[in-house]
Amino acid sequence: MTDDKAYAFFEGKFVDIDDAKVSIKTHVIQYGTGVFEGIRGYWNEKEEEIYLFRLREHFERMLDSMKIMRIECKYSVDELCNMTVELVKMNKPNSDIYVRPLAYKNSTAIGPGLHNNPSEFCCYTVPFGAYFKGGDEGLKVMISSWRRLEDNAIPPRAKVTGAYANTAQAKTDAVLYGFDDAIVLTEDGHVSEGSAMNIFVVKNGELITTPVSDNILVGITLTSVIEFAKEELGIVASRRKIDRTELYAADEIFFCGTGAEVVSVVDVDKRPVGTGKTGPMCTKIRDLYHKITHGEVEKYHRWLTPVYAKKGSKIAAR
Ligand SMILES: Cc1ncc(COP(=O)(O)O)c(C=O)c1O
Repeated sequence: MTDDKAYAFFEGKFVDIDDAKVSIKTHVIQYGTGVFEGIRGYWNEKEEEIYLFRLREHFERMLDSMKIMRIECKYSVDELCNMTVELVKMNKPNSDIYVRPLAYKNSTAIGPGLHNNPSEFCCYTVPFGAYFKGGDEGLKVMISSWRRLEDNAIPPRAKVTGAYANTAQAKTDAVLYGFDDAIVLTEDGHVSEGSAMNIFVVKNGELITTPVSDNILVGITLTSVIEFAKEELGIVASRRKIDRTELYAADEIFFCGTGAEVVSVVDVDKRPVGTGKTGPMCTKIRDLYHKITHGEVEKYHRWLTPVYAKKGSKIAAR
């Protein structure tokens, strides 16, 4: 941000970030009954522009999460997109950012019920660089002893705040044991995803990822990678169950997500993946993802929302 002043959208208004506060009695704090999104904004220095990546798709997923959690939404997807653009403009960033919308249950009464419980919405932005510092070298990960949550427990398809207690356990153990991150398995022992990102495996030239029914968050980055890998590189990803030992025998593995972007995994449970270095398929996909998110591939300008949309800028305002 260019100065100290930062704004949030909170309970229907743009306010100073320091005034965006809830009571300690609030339902979401007590019971984890919120849903959120994470959206990246990429700063383009030359154009003095911020590109929000797949803004609309993030809010469409957020509305699904809200429906699952019985959180009512006062806004349409268009209104949420417009609010975000306004907020980013007010915060005047001059570097990459992360946008965090949160919808939550706002009752201050004791009791876990989602009914008779008002819903609220807020959104803020923060400057945000690489999620994995030194990620270019590739990550060393472990298989977590924590299992991914089940769809019939806390559905991972919805980005529920309380569900991230599971993510936090997996991530923290991995880091405390000396790894960069973790891969979590489903209750039936198949690969689900990373702590907060989806996973791809490459074996004998085949690109493989998990089915949506294996308790993953259906990632917007994952969906984007599947689409542009097919369209631009002619690589068609298979979606099927992945066994744990396929990870040990893989030629390449990489994670993808809004925060993580595309990052290779070079070691799993102290077994080098392939050559132990970032592989060619990951490199191609990572480089193309970088170009697409930074507005360098015209065909994918439709995935970017420019915030300032100045006259003559290469991507028109939405
Ligand atoms: C648990 C989990 N899986 C996967 C992802 C990747 O999803 P996306 O690409 O939509 O950011 C995230 C990140 O939001 C996540 O938290």
